[in-house]
Amino acid sequence: MKIDDLGYFTEQASADIVVARNVDAKDERLKQIMEVVTRKLHEAVKELEPTEKEWFDAIMFLTETGHMCDEWRQEFILLSDVLGVSMLVDAVNHRKSSGASESTVLGPFHVDGAPELPMGANICLDEKGEDILVKGRILDVEGQPIENAVIDVWQANDEGFYDVQQKGIQPDFNLRGVFRTGADGSYWFRAVKPKFYPIPDDGPVGKMLGKLGRHPYRPAHLHYIIKADGFEPLTTHIFDPDDPYINSDAVFGVKQSLLAEFERIEDAARGKELEFGDWFWQVEHNFILAKT
Ligand code: BEZ
Ligand code: FE
Repeated sequence: MKIDDLGYFTEQASADIVVARNVDAKDERLKQIMEVVTRKLHEAVKELEPTEKEWFDAIMFLTETGHMCDEWRQEFILLSDVLGVSMLVDAVNHRKSSGASESTVLGPFHVDGAPELPMGANICLDEKGEDILVKGRILDVEGQPIENAVIDVWQANDEGFYDVQQKGIQPDFNLRGVFRTGADGSYWFRAVKPKFYPIPDDGPVGKMLGKLGRHPYRPAHLHYIIKADGFEPLTTHIFDPDDPYINSDAVFGVKQSLLAEFERIEDAARGKELEFGDWFWQVEHNFILAKT
């Protein structure tokens, strides 16, 4: 057996020895990624000097994280989110100030294929919660309306669950919809006022948060993915600034520019037109897309 130039494994040269083994990697990017990850991991082990039990516990934590995943549950995304890594990946990929609206985490609950609905539709199918009118415009960086922008929205229900977390309890596609703007770039739809909710915390990531003295809550928000031909797609939220968790989002997704104004409207006539009660909530938020 050939011994690498660096010789047998030693504590001192550990990372160099492992990295040298990848010298013939066919994919340069993979080689680079594995070098950085290997070096940082070895550095962490040298700094922490974990016991064998601690290292085995770490392996079991990752094993349980994997076992928790299925078609509807992505525990590794949750782990990335609570470690702030999802937001960091978002930040390094959207560094230039293009004038576009800011992005934030996608989260694990987006579903492809939500129904395309006529403007103004009510996406709430379970009749729970306080009515809200959501509206705004999709604009380019010069303030011109974008026609034919596709707006994919989703949110949790009044009890803090997405439809995919409660299959058979909530109607499929509850609180999801896809809307397409007309020539004036405006959009509007009816929904229910979002509430804060815990990220799924019945798995290893939730247990870890508990041990770290952290709560699992996300402040109330609505999710958007906005796409239009010739423009960079935007994945973002709007947040309720009055939410009790607005300054401690479990996944670090809040940005100042994504705080929207949720207004309580007391107007029985308008409420009737909207098939709401005597009062309802309203939030208006414009989004700006950058050209590709
Ligand atoms: C969400 O907002 O849907 C979400 C984001 C990150 C983790 C869990 C949920
Ligand atoms: Fe969410």
